[in-house]
Amino acid sequence: MDGQWDLTPRPASASSVVLTQLMEVTDANVLGNVHGGVLMRLADTAAALAAMKHTGGVCVTVSVDEMLFREPVHVGDLVTLRAIVNQVGTTSLECGVRIVAERLRTGELVHASTAYFVYVAIDDQGRPRPVPPLVAESAEERRRQKEATLRREARMAHKKEIERHREAERSTGSSAG
Ligand SMILES: CC(C)(COP(=O)(O)OP(=O)(O)OC[C@H]1O[C@@H](n2cnc3c(N)ncnc32)[C@H](O)[C@@H]1OP(=O)(O)O)[C@@H](O)C(=O)NCCC(=O)NCCS
Repeated sequence: MDGQWDLTPRPASASSVVLTQLMEVTDANVLGNVHGGVLMRLADTAAALAAMKHTGGVCVTVSVDEMLFREPVHVGDLVTLRAIVNQVGTTSLECGVRIVAERLRTGELVHASTAYFVYVAIDDQGRPRPVPPLVAESAEERRRQKEATLRREARMAHKKEIERHREAERSTGSSAG
């Protein structure tokens, strides 16, 4: 099964993606700033492209975390999203996205948001398939890789804890009934 995929290790830098878009009136929320969902969609697009560049195939979004909106983005801002693969598992990979808004009138650059998306590479039947190893070459890439590993451990621990809690609730419910 693994034989059909090119699992040659690839440098993180080869997955790098830059997307730039002008924020328009149709991107606004009721306050007149850019709607968070617009930025989330753009971030998912940029991160998915990084994941697909690394894996050479289709990837689906499994989870998003730590999407922190640090500063509002305004209509008329030029938004640039930079995405890169931070770390890979067996079939999944984490991509980080940094969103910077440029206030065009002043040239001020604002770090508006950072987020981490997890994707799973899938085969033609929609089943998870192996992804190539990642080579973190620079100190920055190695830092991102380590931090992504910490987030993966936290995600998995959180998932297990929720499952344990639900199981305990179910067994309490059934013994009460
Ligand atoms: C992605 C999908 C195929 C995974 O199926 P699955 O049966 O959970 O597969 P597995 O249990 O084998 O897990 C696959 C990988 O996902 C990871 N994963 C599963 N749940 C996760 C979670 N909550 N957070 C992060 N990673 C998770 C696993 O750790 C595993 O990674 P690894 O192989 O690198 O260790 C399936 O969940 C799916 O189709 N989801 C819908 C995706 C979608 O439609 N996205 C939105 C539109 S793109």
